[in-house]
Amino acid sequence: MIDHQQNILIVDFGSQVTQLIARRVREAGVYSEVVPFQSADAAFDRLRPAGIILSGGPASVTVDSSPRAPQRFFNAGVPVLGICYGQQLMGVQLGGDVCVSGDGGEFGEAFVEVTRPCALFDGLWAPGERHQVWMSHGDKVDSIPPGFVPVATSTGAPYAVVADEARRFYGVQFHPEVVHTPDGGRLIANFARHVCGLAGDWTMAEFRAAKTAEIRAQVGGARVICGLSGGVDSAVAAVLIHEALRDTGPEQLTCVFVDHGLMRAGEADEVVSLFRGHYNIPLVHVDAGERFLAGLAGVTDPEAKRKFIGRTFIDVFDEEARKLGGADFLAQGTLYPDVIESVSFTGGPSVTIKSHHNVGGLPERMAMALVEPLRELFKDEVRVLGRELGLPEAFVGRHPFPGPGLAIRIPGEVTREACDILRRADAIYLDEIRAAGLYDAIWQAFAVLLPVRSVGVMGDGRTYERVLALRAVTSVDGMTAQAFEFPGGFLSRLTTRLVNEVRGINRVVYDHTSKPPGTIEWE
Ligand code: XMP
Repeated sequence: MIDHQQNILIVDFGSQVTQLIARRVREAGVYSEVVPFQSADAAFDRLRPAGIILSGGPASVTVDSSPRAPQRFFNAGVPVLGICYGQQLMGVQLGGDVCVSGDGGEFGEAFVEVTRPCALFDGLWAPGERHQVWMSHGDKVDSIPPGFVPVATSTGAPYAVVADEARRFYGVQFHPEVVHTPDGGRLIANFARHVCGLAGDWTMAEFRAAKTAEIRAQVGGARVICGLSGGVDSAVAAVLIHEALRDTGPEQLTCVFVDHGLMRAGEADEVVSLFRGHYNIPLVHVDAGERFLAGLAGVTDPEAKRKFIGRTFIDVFDEEARKLGGADFLAQGTLYPDVIESVSFTGGPSVTIKSHHNVGGLPERMAMALVEPLRELFKDEVRVLGRELGLPEAFVGRHPFPGPGLAIRIPGEVTREACDILRRADAIYLDEIRAAGLYDAIWQAFAVLLPVRSVGVMGDGRTYERVLALRAVTSVDGMTAQAFEFPGGFLSRLTTRLVNEVRGINRVVYDHTSKPPGTIEWE
């Protein structure tokens, strides 16, 4: 069980990156909980935290009705770190002639100059140094409450970091939780360990124990159906739920694997043998490949493909769930990025970049309560949890694969022939990557079969075949990515193999685009 004083309470004021704060705190080996500001008061009594972090948010503290932190948080003798909106709140709630102005916002990369030592900077930043940070604010603090001193400044934010060391209150205008603040994780770790005095020995084993207890409490003796997509996330969610319910009642959990026929070579078989063979979890394997292909005939628009696949997945799942006699709970392997990728990452107007396959849809249709034990985790954390649960390394370490599968790697119409070509090319690509020992250095590698033909020459003959694009990226969490630089000669050797062994393509190109401005998948 968690020692409730060994934790940090993160109060969410609506920033799109609040969960990244939790992630950084977890990386520092400290347990944290994110709670909406409306329930912060109750959470404080329940958790008795050793520290509090106030998140950013879209509101303006200059508006009277904007959210506030419970005032007693500042009288509890507990360290507080306010980030962006959280810093401005501290300014307003801690009194004095604090003024927050709405002029002069800053967005994107900025540099702060350290002016004084501060516990947040221990072993990291020294006075006189300049450091890169990520700013995203409209309002800024123009004067600070009694007891505080500025410890770092930037051109756009004279109070980029302020501190009241006696009360252990800190405010940062920038976002230490995003990777674009290179030292941000270590600043948050300093807050958690040095300032709050936490040991930093929390591990994924404790997450596993806490989540299984939570699932048992949520589900009780009711029936759960879990939709498997074939990927790591839904598999880890299912195994975690299986562990939670294993001893409470046989067959409480049934997994339904909707096989849309758009998986990579061998992947569907792997899922089936893992669940039936290794875990002995009741599994319904629905081979719906024909139905998906038939519905995709003539569909070329990326969003239309995604929506069709999402909808059909739900239809098939629903039909199977009915055959099983229904269930009270629906389990999904939703991750945090699935939740936020539908809205913009750096603030600004909310736009849908891509309709993600695993969010929404099912719950509304089926009127079941949701069990989503991975909702606050990021992909790499799910892998750590998967290993913790004993899933085979070859499965857990697999590159991410999108819910809509190969369909979004075939721009234009998805046909059986295109799927077959792509499957063969993709298998060779990954085979060469593994043989070169590069698989684990790459976040995700895949081929895209373009709807473009090019002229080539093979032997003495002219060819007119399709073009294959190769993509390989490095990334921390899939939210941003860089094209992977293959060592010299690799791509030429691979291209020769692909063109020789895969009928239907005669040219191979490599995609060097980072995210942003590109996305990882092409559709
Ligand atoms: P993008 O293309 O948006 O992809 O840069 C980011 C990461 O998400 C994966 N992806 C998906 N995963 N359902 C998923 O489960 C989806 O609909 C989906 N679309 C993209 C993509 O492979 C990459 O890892």
